Amino acid sequence: MCGIVGYVGPQQAGRILLDGLSKLEYRGYDSAGIAVRDNDRPIEIVKAKGRLKVLAEKTNNGDALRGTTGIGHTRWATHGEPSVTNAHPHHSNDSSVVAVHNGIIENYQEIRDKLTRHNYTFYSETDTEAFVNLIDYYYKKYSMGPIDAISKAMVRVRGSYAIAVLFKDYPNEIYAARKDNPMIIGVKDGASYLASDVPAILNYTRNIYYIDNLEIARLTPGEVHFFNIDGDEVEKESVEIKWDAKAAEKNGYEHFMIKEIHEQPQAVRDTINSLVKDDKIDFTEAGLTDEIIGKINRIYIVSCGSSYHVGVAARYNIEKLAGIPVHVELASEFRYRSMPMDPESLFIVISQSGETADTLAALRLAKEQGLSTLAIVNVVGSTIAREADHVIYTMAGPEIAVATTKAYSAQLIVTYLIAIQFALVRGRIDEERYTALLTEMQTLPKKITRIFEDTERIQWFAAKHSNDKDIFFIGRGLDYGISMEGSLKLKEVSYIHSEATAAGELKHGTISLIENGTLVVGILTQNELIEKMLSNMEEVKSRGAYVLGLTTYGNYKTEDVADFTVYIPRTEEMFTPSLAIIPLQLLAYYISVSRGLDVDKPRNLAKSVTVE
Ligand code: F6R
Repeated sequence: MCGIVGYVGPQQAGRILLDGLSKLEYRGYDSAGIAVRDNDRPIEIVKAKGRLKVLAEKTNNGDALRGTTGIGHTRWATHGEPSVTNAHPHHSNDSSVVAVHNGIIENYQEIRDKLTRHNYTFYSETDTEAFVNLIDYYYKKYSMGPIDAISKAMVRVRGSYAIAVLFKDYPNEIYAARKDNPMIIGVKDGASYLASDVPAILNYTRNIYYIDNLEIARLTPGEVHFFNIDGDEVEKESVEIKWDAKAAEKNGYEHFMIKEIHEQPQAVRDTINSLVKDDKIDFTEAGLTDEIIGKINRIYIVSCGSSYHVGVAARYNIEKLAGIPVHVELASEFRYRSMPMDPESLFIVISQSGETADTLAALRLAKEQGLSTLAIVNVVGSTIAREADHVIYTMAGPEIAVATTKAYSAQLIVTYLIAIQFALVRGRIDEERYTALLTEMQTLPKKITRIFEDTERIQWFAAKHSNDKDIFFIGRGLDYGISMEGSLKLKEVSYIHSEATAAGELKHGTISLIENGTLVVGILTQNELIEKMLSNMEEVKSRGAYVLGLTTYGNYKTEDVADFTVYIPRTEEMFTPSLAIIPLQLLAYYISVSRGLDVDKPRNLAKSVTVE
């Protein structure tokens, strides 16, 4: 939520800042702003409400501001409505300090009150303005320089932040600090960069530093120094990022979402290949030994949104194949429950960004209770990846569209591998079954590609239903997990109301919403549940529903009930989520396109939810 960038180097900063922000717009897009300065000139701030392109127009793509040092921000409003006044950068009362901030300062009112007593005034409703003035207050009170002023302010604020600060008295320098919000720093060819996420600086450098929680960085042209909160310098090694810069571009596709949908065969293949070596699952890099796996009594899977839906699917597979009880919890709920947990369990968190605030809080709670933790994460070096005991990376590459597709698919693969490996180690399957499952898993990329051949039919169907008021998804077992994801995908990008209901629950309430013509998507890929699903589909149809059946080739009885049927290739039942989700992603995408919506940046959403 919110994206920040910074540049200090030999070139004009404006254009570089806007380019970086364009890669971060998925993090927030209600307003944006940049602050640029040159040696002898005051810090100049330009802000605009709305998408980044408004700021780009206002600043002639950044060229209208002169200076080689600058910071920028794209906002997802938390405190204060989206407006030019509330947009970042914010400045202190006399403009000695200017900053951009991602996160939330919880005690900002208390800080405003304190500063008001010292004659500070405020022009915006933001928590950031309080933070900036607090830094200014300590800077002037102690005259010990920027690092000290920032660290004193860090001690005083509660909440989360990634902040980049310019000081009027320190030209050619940017100061940065973070707590529980992401920030990376890159250095190359006499220039230094900072950003909330890697794609923002991938065009300039692949060598990046991770600034840790409660650390401060000083960026000068081509150099960066790190300090802990006591002001002592900390040594750090840079890490080389292997992502291809092109992966963060649209490459001729109309939207990132459709590009990323089409990248799924590759994401699935790369994730399998990173974890299956010589036809054996290899979790050694994650440190998940057979001894650890053998001892686990129970598994908790805790995450948010689509990552939570991966957990729901994983529960069915792990319980069925490996025979381990699995509890799946929403991180935002889990963190405020007092759930007694079995100490001999594995606590799994799943997160594309590795920064989701609730998931991170859940991970920390589990660690406090002494549980062994495993993170399934896409973004290398993210906070969750760094804090978990064991990490398995999904190989989806940078995901830009706000609605996740390829990261979801890559996460599913990791959960299949966990189910299979745990089943083998615990003697629930033999080598033959193990090999058969892995062999079938390798066919998934090709099978996903085959589903794309049906795109035109789905596109036609989507156009026909683009004005629907409500769309329901029903399924049982694993198909219920897929329904949840299909429904979320649809509602987030199309703004059509949608619900996923466990098909057996229909009669307990939801069926009363079915009217003449209401679209119900029935998912039926699990053999032992097909008859039951067909009856549920009959029930809604006899109440006027228009039924889409999503099933595997061979289940032709579906056509007796469904008005429109979409087939996916046959596979091991445990892998069907990887195939069934594809037509649902396409459906959501094409409905959004038919409605003329901003598919990649749906209203009110942000890709990385770093606030509660
Ligand atoms: C939906 C979507 C979100 C995320 C959720 C968790 O398309 O992208 O629901 O799945 O915000 O994010 P991560 O996986 O980054 O923790």
